[in-house]
Amino acid sequence: MLTPSRLLRDSPSPPPPTTKPRTNPTRNSHREPHPHLPRVTLPLPIIIIRARAVITTPPHARRGSASTEMGNAPEGETEGSGFKLRGFRGFVRANPRSDRFPVHGFHHVEFWTGDASTAAGRFAFALGMPLSARSDLSTGNPVHASYLLRSRSLRFLFSAPYGPGPGAGAAIPSFDPERARRFVAAHGLAVRAVALRVADAAAAFRVSVAHGARPAFPPADLGDGFALSEVELYGDVVLRYVSFPADQNPGEAPGFLPGFEDAAAAAAAGEPGRGPLDYGLRRLDHAVGNVPELGPAVAYVAGFTGFHEFAEFAAEDVGTAESGLNSVVLANNEETVLVPMNEPVHGTKRRSQIQTYLDHNGGPGVQHLALASDDVLRTLREMRARSGAGGFEFMPPPPPNYYDGVRRRAGDVLSDEQIAECKELGVLVDRDDQGVLLQIFTKPIGDRPTIFLEIIQRIGCMMKDDDGREYQKGGCGGFGKGNFSELFKSIEEYEKSLESKQSTTVPAS
Ligand SMILES: [Fe+2]
Repeated sequence: MLTPSRLLRDSPSPPPPTTKPRTNPTRNSHREPHPHLPRVTLPLPIIIIRARAVITTPPHARRGSASTEMGNAPEGETEGSGFKLRGFRGFVRANPRSDRFPVHGFHHVEFWTGDASTAAGRFAFALGMPLSARSDLSTGNPVHASYLLRSRSLRFLFSAPYGPGPGAGAAIPSFDPERARRFVAAHGLAVRAVALRVADAAAAFRVSVAHGARPAFPPADLGDGFALSEVELYGDVVLRYVSFPADQNPGEAPGFLPGFEDAAAAAAAGEPGRGPLDYGLRRLDHAVGNVPELGPAVAYVAGFTGFHEFAEFAAEDVGTAESGLNSVVLANNEETVLVPMNEPVHGTKRRSQIQTYLDHNGGPGVQHLALASDDVLRTLREMRARSGAGGFEFMPPPPPNYYDGVRRRAGDVLSDEQIAECKELGVLVDRDDQGVLLQIFTKPIGDRPTIFLEIIQRIGCMMKDDDGREYQKGGCGGFGKGNFSELFKSIEEYEKSLESKQSTTVPAS
């Protein structure tokens, strides 16, 4: 999923709830030329692209008659719980606004780790996300150490256990030290919770469970009007609901959750070593999960959230000759919460990279987090400058001739200079019928070849809400379908390099 930034003005925050044009493109228009997209000059103008609306049956109804609708479904379709994958070419996008409860957007992502301060320090350095809040022994929390990094509305929380079991003083009431230890042993550094800000965490929990969600933690009143609840998402990952009073502006509130101490206050008090840290990351764009079987996973999540299908990709759309995957993207009403899920495709010459993930992660889990920047080229320069000093490394760049295709596909939006900069930094470029996506992928960010990050910028799709405020339509520019094959070639090359190391280091029996 991709888009660049000096190209766009401020990378939009999640659109406000009152948006109007809910137009949706047909899948088949994605290859059409884009005569309305001006060549971008620095600074980039806002590109407004209005797509053609289509009316389709809501996904919940559609699933019930999937077998007849899908009579001509392409190869690679997947079945499970009445769900069938149509793939990119067979899918028609529509937004039935079918959420079962009000969802305002992503709130935070929590990683469980063995040592939270070490993990948070590395991410802060690598991503330019300063420490924003803490809850640990120094704040009177004897159960877990938790550190929150924040860059605009992007929030990463790192938590590690102290004591033997749950106890008084935990800032996250669902935190169980024993479970956290088992989680880390099973998965390594991994995402435990994808948190959404909802209108009412208790109501969201009740509605979810009533529609089939497996409960993980019942609603808890955190004080000051904050509430938290959790349901299972996939594997050992939970979907966390967080709610707090409307007057708590999520963009400006000094606090994160009750029980957390504002770390920015410490910096303001003159704590040494706290300079400005900002590489341009602004928000979480999408959180992708890998599961063994897509059908039941999609039916489960869509069933209790009401989220609609935003996109589909079948193996034939995204795979290389040797590996592939099937993927479905679910979205909330405002399409600000995008939760794709992937399943492996079997029977190919080479094992699917999704299966490799599942093996190394010990089951389903979050595969990657896409972080939106307001200037991806600047973000990349900052991140790459730290790659060799403890920051994150990136997947190898595509072959040089890849950028000849970029010039053909996006030369009306990106200048030659910008394309040259993308080439220098290894940024991939894709577009759909609505906008342009700039994207790049890190190598795995922990010890295991599992979770990685995607850094993106979306260009185009600017709209206005009822109050005349501009925002960018969710998922503008797609998810990098046109780059999947390049990405997977890179991943396969990386996996092959790991395998060759194994074969040279494992002693002969
Ligand atoms: Fe992605």
